[in-house]
Amino acid sequence: MSVPDRKFKIIPANENHLTGIVTCHETAFPGEFLTLLGPRFLRSFYKYYCNHPDAIFLIAKDNETGLIGGLVAGGAPYVRGHFMRKYIPLYLPVILYKSLVNSKIRKRLIEHTANAVSSLSKKIGIAKTLNHAPDNEYYDVLSSSLLSICTHSGYRGKGAAAALMEAFRNESEKRGYRSMRLSVHNDNTAAIKLYKKMGWEIVMESPKGIYFKKEIREN
Ligand SMILES: CC(C)(COP(=O)(O)OP(=O)(O)OC[C@H]1O[C@@H](n2cnc3c(N)ncnc32)[C@H](O)[C@@H]1OP(=O)(O)O)[C@@H](O)C(=O)NCCC(=O)NCCS
Repeated sequence: MSVPDRKFKIIPANENHLTGIVTCHETAFPGEFLTLLGPRFLRSFYKYYCNHPDAIFLIAKDNETGLIGGLVAGGAPYVRGHFMRKYIPLYLPVILYKSLVNSKIRKRLIEHTANAVSSLSKKIGIAKTLNHAPDNEYYDVLSSSLLSICTHSGYRGKGAAAALMEAFRNESEKRGYRSMRLSVHNDNTAAIKLYKKMGWEIVMESPKGIYFKKEIREN
């Protein structure tokens, strides 16, 4: 897919970009669970993705100003789980306190806990699927996971997200993945349109979201 003339370049993220990355996330996802946990948590999250060898983390950097206009993070599906297991205990007092004073955090915390219990029970075979996620075939290890994509409000509609997705695809291919997957909230019209435009296909829809997949070898 061709993208319009760019005033930004797509490069791998590193720790020097963290301040801009956190700002980009905060402006793109106001009120979202990770945003509500605060900039320190976000910084830890993205720092982990900067340094993990199995993570794919790319940014759109403005050629003139050096500002970070967008980001895409993902890679091996297990990276997020490893981060959560390592950092959630460290941040637990903060998360519990915030969940007491903020109902949105409380609700998401309950959802996350239910998902964790569900996947644990599936792993040890004591329960059927409790949530609405797709079956194991979807979670193929040869499929890279696109966890997060966003562009700063000042950079919207300039092809930055399309370019980030294309770069994510190329990096996934370089690392030997055969396909990519992601999920999105049902009401995120802009993102759903972006994924369809980039050739991703819906594999499942559920009350929790829409699950997309794209084969890499087809390109
Ligand atoms: C979704 C998002 C990443 C799109 O970023 P963007 O840089 O503006 O997207 P692009 O300019 O590359 O647009 C590519 C295509 O996406 C679709 N698209 C992007 N923004 C859209 C909007 N507001 N409404 C409808 N379609 C949209 C269009 O198909 C567009 O192609 P077109 O311009 O030829 O029609 C951006 O709006 C965003 O950061 N949203 C908040 C974070 C988010 O929801 N991320 C996804 C969930 S993880």
